[in-house]
Amino acid sequence: MKQVFEAVKLTERVYWVGAIDWNVRDFHGYSTNRGTTYNAYLVLADRVTLIDTVKAPFREELVARISSVIDPGKIEYIVSNHSEMDHSGCLPEMIELIEPRKVFASTMGVEALADHFHDGLDVAEVKDGDRIDLGDMTITVLETRMLHWPDSMVSYLEEERLLFSQDGFGMHLASSERFDDELPLPLLEHEAKKYYANILLPFSRQVLKVLDRLAEAKLEFEIIAPDHGPIWRKSQGRILELYREWAEQKREKKAVIVYDTMWGSTEKMARAIADGLTSGGASVKVMKLRAAHRSDIATEILDAGALVVGSPTINNNIFPTVADILVYLKGLKPAGLIGAAFGSYGWSGESVKQIEELLGGMKVEIAGEALRTKYVPDKEMLETCRSSGLAIAKKLS
Ligand code: FEO
Repeated sequence: MKQVFEAVKLTERVYWVGAIDWNVRDFHGYSTNRGTTYNAYLVLADRVTLIDTVKAPFREELVARISSVIDPGKIEYIVSNHSEMDHSGCLPEMIELIEPRKVFASTMGVEALADHFHDGLDVAEVKDGDRIDLGDMTITVLETRMLHWPDSMVSYLEEERLLFSQDGFGMHLASSERFDDELPLPLLEHEAKKYYANILLPFSRQVLKVLDRLAEAKLEFEIIAPDHGPIWRKSQGRILELYREWAEQKREKKAVIVYDTMWGSTEKMARAIADGLTSGGASVKVMKLRAAHRSDIATEILDAGALVVGSPTINNNIFPTVADILVYLKGLKPAGLIGAAFGSYGWSGESVKQIEELLGGMKVEIAGEALRTKYVPDKEMLETCRSSGLAIAKKLS
């Protein structure tokens, strides 16, 4: 292993020593169709420090990358910014291997690590604003509770003006390139948006507070080094700007139509509504639930103004895939959406009312008429669907 994996230099004394997971396609329900990385960093201060570790199966890759720079036994400190197992999975084994003088985590991180590993890890607590003296370098810790776990914190390496931002500003993207300026910016913006929409959206208020705090502290970031995906050394300003936009949930004249269908009737309605929306000047995404993953739908909704949901009625209920997406989106707590429901049925036809109730539970303002078709929509019904799309587009203006 030592001969295969090498560390990547960020600055004269900071190295990336993480792992690339080319093949992961499902990250606890999030579709990672481009894989991911688990980033860990080595700081060659007087007291050599490891920032985070990697998911357990990638421990050998981490050890090999560290070994390409320094004997792992020389590491004195480990800082655990986040205890989710993609970053702490091999922490106990790394502690056993390295025998560091100290392991640091936030107050909640100490608890979370104990609850994960149950083996009496000796972890020292650091609080918001605490400074960790590395001898000739200093780390300042900023707690970022609920971004996106209670334990989450970030570490600022003052001498290098480098922010180790754990999940924040990250993305699921496996690549041989380690830095943002080596990859196309639109790709990075898309994957960062997907990450925000699926992981951080429910905590947008806390994101705004952290952004304000970082701005007030007038910290300048030469580098933002997240725990997933490329390291920002060129477009740091852009990702900070995008985070503010996403956290403010700025919405465009855009609608997302999400639906499933059994014999194509609900689909015909979806297409007619989409045409009306387009005629009204809205940008539209039509996403059939058995063709689009829930995490891609959430990504499209991040900047959309309207969510239009269609389902046939099956056994007095909405279609199971429609239930899935609505439960998922409810948990993400998107704010400021308008919406509408539509669907076909054979005899009982409960689905549209059920969708409206679920949208209401998500605080989506119902802005279009409930559209129900018995069996197959006729021309008149499709005209009505189209008009409804037009009306929703007008409300989006
Ligand atoms: Fe990448 Fe919240 O773990």
